[in-house]
Amino acid sequence: MERELALEFARVTEAAALASARWVGRGDKEAADDAAVTAMRVMFDTVSVNGLVVIGEGEMDEAPMLYIGEKVGIGVPPAVDIAVDPLEGTNIVAKGLTGAIAVLAAAPRGSLLHAPDMYMDKIAVGAECKGRVHLEATVKENLREVSRALDKLMSEITVVILDRPRHQGIIEEVRRVGARIKLITDGDVSPGVAAAYDDSGVDILMGIGGAPEGVITAAALKCLGGDFQGRLVPEGDEAPDEIRRCHDMGITDVNKVFSLDELVKSDDVIFVATGITDSFLLKGVRYHKRRAITETLVMRSTSGTIRHIEATHHLDKKPLFKNSLIQKIME
Ligand code: FBP
Repeated sequence: MERELALEFARVTEAAALASARWVGRGDKEAADDAAVTAMRVMFDTVSVNGLVVIGEGEMDEAPMLYIGEKVGIGVPPAVDIAVDPLEGTNIVAKGLTGAIAVLAAAPRGSLLHAPDMYMDKIAVGAECKGRVHLEATVKENLREVSRALDKLMSEITVVILDRPRHQGIIEEVRRVGARIKLITDGDVSPGVAAAYDDSGVDILMGIGGAPEGVITAAALKCLGGDFQGRLVPEGDEAPDEIRRCHDMGITDVNKVFSLDELVKSDDVIFVATGITDSFLLKGVRYHKRRAITETLVMRSTSGTIRHIEATHHLDKKPLFKNSLIQKIME
């Protein structure tokens, strides 16, 4: 993929972030999500790519835009798989909390795992811990490896875990071992990526979250040289249907632990995310008089370049915001 594509994608996540940031704290997660999806979809129409959404807003009959199987871009080469989460952290935006981002990942056609919208058990670490943690190891074994790899005391290791009753066991185990925990309300992509950032305050992400978010996190960690493993978790009454959807998407062994290279098969990956609210990774959208400032992370695995782009948007001058669809969702 050409490097220019990375910057075109940055405009796509910026648009999603700018649109949904209007909804921060307004208690309406659907409206915030609709705003992000619509802005992202409109902006994709300007991108020189033949994109196929493989991770998106849902199946074709559930989502009007950015559904799995939708073609995006103007239809010229390269042919790429696209994984999108226009608003990662809908509750976060609705409540005005920290950790919401607009995010997308792209890789050559056929190289991103087509993961259904179900749960995934995940573990994410940075480059120094690559190859040293495993989903099938115990919490204690994994944290001991992280402590050795980073040359930190156990009491200096920070584990990020979604604050859910299903994680009570992991939380107790981490506390017994003596590591620190940051519990998050939502949004496990940003701490998963932050685990591979030196000074983010996150050393490892553990626990069960969304499978689509898992593939997106894996794409970022491919760019950062980190590591990620995921195992799908069919759940409750939905389990038979989830297993059927896995089979339809070509996943025959639902209990398999997917390595980073199985989730993201290519070494040519682009990952882009724009902050909506402040997070481990990025500052959220800030407003000034008719201007908005965004921070966007842009990474390409082939070059290894990591860019943080701060952009000032003059909202009166943006053609995107003159689009009638966008105007409707911004009102
Ligand atoms: P949204 O779809 O509302 O943006 O949720 C994001 C998220 O918090 C993910 O980051 C996480 O992987 C997943 O939801 C966790 O799911 P649950 O809230 O069901 O535990």
